Amino acid sequence: MSASIFHHVIDSDEAQDALSEGERQATLPAGSFQLAKMTITQDASKYREVDHRVWRSVFDRRMEELREDGSSVFLRGMETIRLGNAKVPVLDEINGYLEPMTGWRSVAVPGYLPPRSFFAFLAERRFPTTISVRPPEQIEYLPEPDIIHDVFGHVPRHADPAFADFLQTFGRTALAVDDHVASEGLARLFWFTVEFGLVREAGDVKLYGAGLLSSPGEGRHALRSAAVDRRPFDLDAILATDFEIDHFQPILYVLEDFGQLRDAMFGHARDLHARGLLQTADLPFAAE
Ligand SMILES: [Fe+2]
Repeated sequence: MSASIFHHVIDSDEAQDALSEGERQATLPAGSFQLAKMTITQDASKYREVDHRVWRSVFDRRMEELREDGSSVFLRGMETIRLGNAKVPVLDEINGYLEPMTGWRSVAVPGYLPPRSFFAFLAERRFPTTISVRPPEQIEYLPEPDIIHDVFGHVPRHADPAFADFLQTFGRTALAVDDHVASEGLARLFWFTVEFGLVREAGDVKLYGAGLLSSPGEGRHALRSAAVDRRPFDLDAILATDFEIDHFQPILYVLEDFGQLRDAMFGHARDLHARGLLQTADLPFAAE
């Protein structure tokens, strides 16, 4: 299946079991997921010198640009979780700083999870995290997530209270939704925010999408190319905007702040609930 299962930090029996569980549980009703069965152990002693070198190289090169181009939510989050260039990050160490802030944790998974299994983690403030490291010959670009995309790109934002609420509510809503068009809309919302979102800070547009933070070429393109149409964040427009995964994004959406994103998600969940498109009697808001 996924190539990452053969990576030297992943035990293949444990990973194979976790992958099978991810597939098996994907059709379960919300509330009956057993997340631990879909996770694997991160044994930090299995990382090799080449893994640390790749991490350090990408980290240093990205931070050169992101000190200027990264959103403050990302930069503050990096400090909160003490992410540094010295070695491939250990999820338990990150969680020690992150969980007291917002209740989010990163948990190791072997690779691809079907959508509903992925959403089940988000619904519980758990981020399914790939722990393999891209090989040096693919240092510029790797089509599937690795720990650089998942931890460097995604995890720092989980320290922000508004983003934290947004992402959990996204997961609860996506897990409960029972309508093809609404599901597609949520996939678009994830794409244009979590993966490719921009935010305005003190008049300047900054990067916060994980796909932009973790990719040098696309981050620069997103902020500086005249070919990109940067539109103000608009939930209804996003729900109606197709995305394409195989080239740089021609349209991106710019948030005013992360409260706007959280409130838009709450409003959208309320709307889907009122239209009878969720398989739950409760609104899927974060409890906090
Ligand atoms: Fe991602």
